Amino acid sequence: MKKLGKLMAAMLVIALTAGCLTACGSSSKSIVFGTNAEFPPFEFVSANGVIGEYDGIDMAIAKEIAEKNGMTAEISNMEFDSLLVALQNGQVDAVIAGMTVTDERAESVDFSTSYYVATQVIIVKEDSDIASADDLSDKLVAVVQGYTGETAVNELGLNYESFKKGTECVLELVNGKCDAVVIDSATATKYVSDNAGLKIVEDEAVFGSEEYAIAVKKGNTELLNKINKAIEEMLANGTIAELGDKYSTAE
Ligand code: ARG
Repeated sequence: MKKLGKLMAAMLVIALTAGCLTACGSSSKSIVFGTNAEFPPFEFVSANGVIGEYDGIDMAIAKEIAEKNGMTAEISNMEFDSLLVALQNGQVDAVIAGMTVTDERAESVDFSTSYYVATQVIIVKEDSDIASADDLSDKLVAVVQGYTGETAVNELGLNYESFKKGTECVLELVNGKCDAVVIDSATATKYVSDNAGLKIVEDEAVFGSEEYAIAVKKGNTELLNKINKAIEEMLANGTIAELGDKYSTAE
């Protein structure tokens, strides 16, 4: 009787522990990444994404960072402008969104080792004679609100209109409502391949290079170290370069 009681008590402890490992453990075992899935080839919505309905270079990187740490990656999709606030509020653990490291952003969040180098480019109609950023001075440019492209055209003193999404900017251009779109290089390449009659104009002298990195809440060194270690491995073993090739040539 006594023995059986002890055995049952032991079994109960085991059962409770196991239950907690599966139920209680699930939240601490995942990294919630905030993104804005409107930025191919880095993040976009797709039927069979690498993380649920989310696909792209960043999504594959997020998944691998989590897996390397024995965790799972969860995606929280929101407007680009809300990402850093969500990070500061603790709604998300990290932001991965093709986000360029800037001094201003680095005042409110901590950035990981950078994993991609990009630049702003100009998208114009194929028959346009715009050949440099200088040629934009008497033109109307479309940019996305909150992107570094908006900051760039603002600093150049250009005439511009801001939209919520890159696809809206491209539609403006296709419909002849603006003369050019200024946006990140890889995303521009994707838009030009998806829409007939457009071309890319580069101006390296005016648009400098930008580095993409993952942001964490200021002072979250525990997560930052995990992210940095994973990124450094993926840079060293060619994973990130492979993902870049895979998603840039897709379709
Ligand atoms: N690199 C640009 C920036 O940091 C654009 C990033 C847009 N990313 C996105 N997931 N919508 O402002």
